[in-house]
Amino acid sequence: MRLCIYNAKGGSGRTTTCLNLAGFYAQSDARVLVCDRDPQGSALAWSALPGEKPFTVGCGRSRGFDIELIDMPPSLPANGLLPEADLYVVPTLLDGVSFVVFLRTMQLIEERGLPHVVVANRFNPKRAEHRARLENKHLHNAVIFPERAAFASYYAQGKTLFEMTGPYLKAARNDIERLACAIEQSTKPTGDQL
Ligand SMILES: Nc1ncnc2c1ncn2[C@@H]1O[C@H](COP(=O)(O)OP(=O)(O)OP(=O)(O)O)[C@@H](O)[C@H]1O
Ligand SMILES: [Mg+2]
Repeated sequence: MRLCIYNAKGGSGRTTTCLNLAGFYAQSDARVLVCDRDPQGSALAWSALPGEKPFTVGCGRSRGFDIELIDMPPSLPANGLLPEADLYVVPTLLDGVSFVVFLRTMQLIEERGLPHVVVANRFNPKRAEHRARLENKHLHNAVIFPERAAFASYYAQGKTLFEMTGPYLKAARNDIERLACAIEQSTKPTGDQL
């Protein structure tokens, strides 16, 4: 399975989603590759932090992996093409500026008929702006990730939520697990394909 983690807006949570989903999948026997396609190289920099990593991080594709996650750069592709993938995972923030770029991203994805799952990231229920945005049609089936300290601390530790220890991790792990369920639903072969 190949997942492309993409939103043309920077800072929307692509690398956080990508590395922690990879950490989730690596708990099984699956061979997992994170392919860092972002010139900023955040996933590669994370993998260079001290400590053994439960999956491979590289900047190109390789054979021999069961699950490949592509961490994309924050831009609309000049040729309008995205890498081939079984599913496009689109994390977005819920502020006005982020949403404008998210809508452009969705236009690209929908014009090409690409299967996708949206993550409404850093949701704060106290913010009316965030609550209102969840009503947008693109977010009707979105997986919601609240603002959580655990999502901000995993990077500095050079671990994913699934290798870290501490009671405050449970809710954030559960967010990633809900996303993995949504991915499974969206990539399951339909009756026609069986
Ligand atoms: N749900 C969350 N709660 C709290 N902090 C979060 C959450 N999601 C992401 N963050 C933090 O937001 C920042 C941006 O996230 P991340 O680096 O994953 O985004 P990105 O889309 O990959 O950004 P870039 O454009 O830099 O590649 C990071 O500091 C991350 O730890
Ligand atoms: Mg990133």
